[in-house]
Amino acid sequence: MSLLKNIAKPAYRALNGLMEKVRKQQSGAIPQIELEPKHIANLRIVLDRDAFLEALPKGGVVAEAGVDHGDFSARILKITQPRKLHLIDVWHSKRYHGGLQGFVRERFADEITNGRVQIDLGLSTSVLPRYPDHYFDWIYIDTDHGYRVTADELSIARTKVKPGGIIAGHDYITSNWDGGVRYGVVEAVHEFCVRHGWELILLTHETDRHLSFAIRAIPSVAR
Ligand SMILES: C[S@@+](CC[C@H](N)C(=O)[O-])C[C@H]1O[C@@H](n2cnc3c(N)ncnc32)[C@H](O)[C@@H]1O
Repeated sequence: MSLLKNIAKPAYRALNGLMEKVRKQQSGAIPQIELEPKHIANLRIVLDRDAFLEALPKGGVVAEAGVDHGDFSARILKITQPRKLHLIDVWHSKRYHGGLQGFVRERFADEITNGRVQIDLGLSTSVLPRYPDHYFDWIYIDTDHGYRVTADELSIARTKVKPGGIIAGHDYITSNWDGGVRYGVVEAVHEFCVRHGWELILLTHETDRHLSFAIRAIPSVAR
């Protein structure tokens, strides 16, 4: 046992040293833009995603990009009572497979029949441009979490929300520790806020740090 421990320790250190270089390279490829005080002047922290939804507008036109089994979609429906909820997903990976679309269709069959829920299949960056400009009260993004895709989603979403509308999303973190995956949501959100004069208005505060964020245009900033 102790022999295994002694062999494993140097191997772990060597592998970790190698991975540190890879991680630094990945981080170095992502722009790091710092916020200014005006970008958090109206920021409110809430405990979790239910409280987050309580703070978002009710009865609106809403999209959730990245649906999985529809667990959060169900919370959106219950808490924010949207008059229309678009569910955008590509469901094309091993984990998030095509069968989930059928599951979600069955789960929200009544709402789909009465037109309150619509499933829009495809990549977020292909589906989002198809909506009319200024259509949504808010959009919640929970898809790929990488810097490039998130930056593109934010850029498209900006033209799709109403003036004063909100862009929100999940995994406002720099990495998934357990999965060893570099995320780029924080950097993409900060770059977007600085470039377009938007502010953070809501953050969740879960112990697992899978935070949700909400941003909106700073009312006084001329764009
Ligand atoms: C983390 S899950 C979403 C979880 C869900 N929002 C919830 O809280 O219950 C991510 C989902 O995003 C989808 N996805 C990943 N990349 C995508 C992309 N570029 N466009 C559309 N959907 C994507 C996956 O198929 C998966 O269902």
